[in-house]
Amino acid sequence: MKILVITGSPHRRGTSMLLADEFSAGAEAAGHKVIRFDAASSRIEPCRACDYCRSHDTECIQKDDMVYLRDDLLEADAIAFVTPLYYFGMSAQLKRVIDRFYALNDALRTPKRALLLATCGDTETWVADALQAHYEALCRYLRWQDCGRIIAIGAYTRSDIETSDYPVRARRLGESLA
Ligand SMILES: Cc1cc2nc3c(=O)[nH]c(=O)nc-3n(C[C@H](O)[C@H](O)[C@H](O)COP(=O)(O)O)c2cc1C
Repeated sequence: MKILVITGSPHRRGTSMLLADEFSAGAEAAGHKVIRFDAASSRIEPCRACDYCRSHDTECIQKDDMVYLRDDLLEADAIAFVTPLYYFGMSAQLKRVIDRFYALNDALRTPKRALLLATCGDTETWVADALQAHYEALCRYLRWQDCGRIIAIGAYTRSDIETSDYPVRARRLGESLA
């Protein structure tokens, strides 16, 4: 299976990147091909809502790193969204990528698997409710099947998450993908 991991944190050695790394290692150990796209270190402009894509066969007018992500998105069997919680939602870095799905709406509405891995500083689970509701709406609209989530609460810093069981859970989630 081809798995695309899209991360949304600017911290290369942050909490959510650790989950992305462990999940990817688990998936690779299970024989899957993992492709990584780090949104924060890529050049992704916000959708301009110009609708150029509507009259140009899904081609976006903006020639940024979405050009490279496009084929991986279309070909992936599974897509893992990895993000720190920013004001009760996903990071803007990740949201920019998702908004650019607009050009590919119809092409992306095919059976795929989806996963959500998120980290946050707070220790109460409700703080990630809006993020999860957004993810569920995205899966429903795109007809993707949710295949697992890890919401790492109390993970404000790298040392918080390193001393938790979330990294092991992320690796197991990657290994579990059949
Ligand atoms: C702009 C910003 C907004 C944040 N908003 C929240 C929040 O709403 N709830 C929360 O629990 N933590 C919040 N945090 C803390 C981060 O989610 C937390 O530190 C996370 O581990 C950072 O992930 P990273 O190391 O992968 O970048 C916020 C951090 C930043 C920088």
